Amino acid sequence: MEKSYNGNILLIGFMGAGKSTVADYLKTKYSMDLVEMDQVIAGREGMSISDIFSTHGEEYFRNLETQLLIELQSHGNTVVSCGGGVPMRERNVKEMKKNGKVVLLTAKPETILERVKDDHSRPLLEGNKTVAYIAELMEKRREKYEAAADIVVATDGRSAEEICEEIIGKLQV
Ligand code: S3P
Repeated sequence: MEKSYNGNILLIGFMGAGKSTVADYLKTKYSMDLVEMDQVIAGREGMSISDIFSTHGEEYFRNLETQLLIELQSHGNTVVSCGGGVPMRERNVKEMKKNGKVVLLTAKPETILERVKDDHSRPLLEGNKTVAYIAELMEKRREKYEAAADIVVATDGRSAEEICEEIIGKLQV
């Protein structure tokens, strides 16, 4: 029988850690609903994340993230791909913990750079696509990411399938 997981799973981690890819895989393989936070926010605002940042500022975007996390508490059997900055607010961590299990995906700065280098949808990385910049921002976030996480899964050099099996295995223990 296919393994299943009935609660909600919140994927956190740095930009390019693989949250969207893993979320898609979990949705298909375990028949979960999928909420891609950035996509929902961009859809509601009718503009891209970059445009939200440049028009309204980062704080405005961060408030929308908090609001969405609270709304998601009424969902079940859902995988939530959280924006990379979500765990930086203490309030968000509290709301995530009420939602379900928080899974931190990690990757080395070199891996992140490789994954994001041709993407222009992340305002925080535009003009900053170097291993040094990524490593520094990652280090600044590390403590909060780790404190928010129920489990941690490394993604470097691994397929979505391997990563998902590890997540479901660890959550079922
Ligand atoms: C951000 C990550 C992005 C997006 C925004 C800010 C961050 O999401 O929410 O650009 O602060 O790390 P992804 O992690 O899905 O790229």
